[in-house]
Order: sequence, then structure tokens, then C-alpha cells
Amino acid sequence: MFVKAAEAAEILPGGMKAVTLNGREVVLCNYGGAFYAVERACGHAKARLERGALTGWVLTCPLHFAQFDIRSGEALSGPAPKAPASKHPDPADPALKTASLKTWPVKTENGFIFIDLP
Ligand code: FES
Repeated sequence: MFVKAAEAAEILPGGMKAVTLNGREVVLCNYGGAFYAVERACGHAKARLERGALTGWVLTCPLHFAQFDIRSGEALSGPAPKAPASKHPDPADPALKTASLKTWPVKTENGFIFIDLP
């Protein structure tokens, strides 16, 4: 069921806004005038992703810089290595595990953004 989430004019291209709907924390992203809805908590250590950076379809976490594709929620990369010694991190290291984000369908109607939440 689509739920009204925000006014489209509130989120400029390249911008993001966090909303809580039906108990779910969601970040709305505007890329080129199209809106996307992704889970608010980073798939690594739950940082709030609306405080990160949106470059094209890539959302970068503000805490350790994991990156996600806002179209699919796919985790494109995990957290950045901390020190030169970990330049080649072991991908099996549980501290680097990064889950992809949930995403939800979005539509705009009469200047408002709606998210299809189950
Ligand atoms: S919390 Fe997002 S990369 Fe660590």
C-alpha cells in the first residue's frame, strides 16, 4: 500500500530526506528528479545514511564510507580500511560485512512522494 512520505519539492536533485512511516525508517533520495526509497540504517554498522553523500545512484555512508546503489540497495563496497596495514582487507573479516539495503517502490502524484510499504 502506497503511503504519503513527503512533498517532492522538499528534496532537491542530489538531496535526501529521512522519514519514518509505519515504524520503518526510510531515506528518500532524489537522483535527476526521480525518487528512490532505501533503508535508513547502513548495512555495515547502522549509521544514518541521509547524513552521507549521494553521487548519481551511489549513496556513500558517512561513517566508514560503504557504498550502495539506491536503485537496488545493493552494497557496492564495504567500509574503507582503517590503516595501511589493512590495505588489502580480508573479505571474510566479519567486521567488514556489509548487508545490502532494503528498497521500496516509489511514485509521485500531485507533488507528493509515496512509498509502497508492505
Ligand atoms: S556504518 Fe556505514 S560503513 Fe560503517
